Amino acid sequence: MSSDDTPPPSPPGKPILGNLVEFSQSPFEYCREQARLGDIVEISLVGQSIYLLTEPEHVSRVLAGEPERFDKPEFVQSAFDPAIGESLLMSSGDEWQTQRETLQPAFYRDRMSEYASTIVETTARHIATWEVGSTVDITESMQRLTMRALVTTLFGDDVPIDQQTVRESIDHVVGRFGSVVSSMIPHWVPTPTNVRFVRALWSLEEVVDEVLVYGRTGDPDDQTLLSLLVAADRAERLSRETVRDEILMFLIEGYGTTSLALTYIWYELARNPETWRRLTDELDEVVAGDRPTPSEIRRLDVTERVVTEALRKYPPIYGIFRETTTDVTFGDWTVPEGSLLCLPQFVLHRDERFYDDPAAFRPERWAGDLEETLPEYAYFPFGGGPRHCIGSRFAMLEMKAMLATMANQWRFDLESEEELSLTMDLVARPEDPVRGTLVSRSS
Ligand code: HEM
Repeated sequence: MSSDDTPPPSPPGKPILGNLVEFSQSPFEYCREQARLGDIVEISLVGQSIYLLTEPEHVSRVLAGEPERFDKPEFVQSAFDPAIGESLLMSSGDEWQTQRETLQPAFYRDRMSEYASTIVETTARHIATWEVGSTVDITESMQRLTMRALVTTLFGDDVPIDQQTVRESIDHVVGRFGSVVSSMIPHWVPTPTNVRFVRALWSLEEVVDEVLVYGRTGDPDDQTLLSLLVAADRAERLSRETVRDEILMFLIEGYGTTSLALTYIWYELARNPETWRRLTDELDEVVAGDRPTPSEIRRLDVTERVVTEALRKYPPIYGIFRETTTDVTFGDWTVPEGSLLCLPQFVLHRDERFYDDPAAFRPERWAGDLEETLPEYAYFPFGGGPRHCIGSRFAMLEMKAMLATMANQWRFDLESEEELSLTMDLVARPEDPVRGTLVSRSS
């Protein structure tokens, strides 16, 4: 509330339900529309107020300026607790600090060339199975690819896990967050979604145990994420539960986000022939062989802009949630302690104040000085401040290397070029499968 007790603007709602009905029909469009009411807008979902913050300065304050005044919200904590409650993503204070320091070496810049070679090799093996004229569920294909690359780079070459089971189990775990309602029902209530969730967790716990056994037999100095975790476990710096949650969290967080971004990239490339031409011109000029080398990948500027633009238009993590630990004043409004804030990338990344024609997919917008002139936090696909994505450098490299390797040989003709309708679960995903027919670039 402001000092004169006027609440932030909010759309009119129904008794009890608040804005739930309109929100559920089309959550992204609804929030974008309501964001026009002001730089803080209160949306009410069955008695739960969510404050949308759409001023970059406010976002900066929450993530980077005074992060100690904003916690991960209680509903996120309790929803994730049974799965990854002890992991880096969910922990706080000294525990978070220890985990971040322990895991950081796996993401140092000097590890990236090594990862690039492995990612390109994994991608080349993946596309070796593609056949001209066959129709592919692009999301599913990108999920298989990113899971394989994640496991190989972060855990080791021949970790003995059944990746399909892992992907299915993760989908069930994430499926619990498929709607506001299902994520709010405690996991021990035996709804069909919760039963699948609990079974999937058991199965993932078995997988994680196997990964750990494998990790203990590996080279302790190879600095993979797994060997760092095993060393921390041995030194009792991290508890066994934390190590297990960590592995699970990396599997969940690391594969869903990048595979979705690659899906959106393929979708937009198929709809934008001019962008496709620019991308393939660059590949033809820079990549000498049939797959890019690490130093060639570094020179792929158009490719990088395609990835950057995809993360702008379709940020897979569409919003970051925080809870105020004290009353906080943002401009004219004071938001009370315990309020739920949403920092919505999906609104800011399409804000006309910062981007011309924001609904258009235009990678070339990043070719000039946009990045320098853009207010900080008008673009933040990887979050910001101390809790920024630890995997951001890895993710950018992965998407660039995979795209360059695939697009060097293949493109997709889409089954449908209609505008994508997105659903809001843990990530922003297409409501319907995105399918395409494979076309060889050499034909
Ligand atoms: C396109 C790909 C990705 C996007 C858009 C993305 C986005 C994000 C965002 C927005 C956050 C901040 C969450 C918050 O502040 O509440 C985050 C945190 C995190 N991400 Fe990512 N991420 C991506 C890929 C990855 C990958 C590939 C990994 C691991 C290999 C990863 C691991 C993590 C971890 C561990 C955190 C928690 C960091 C902490 O709290 O200290 N992410 N990510």
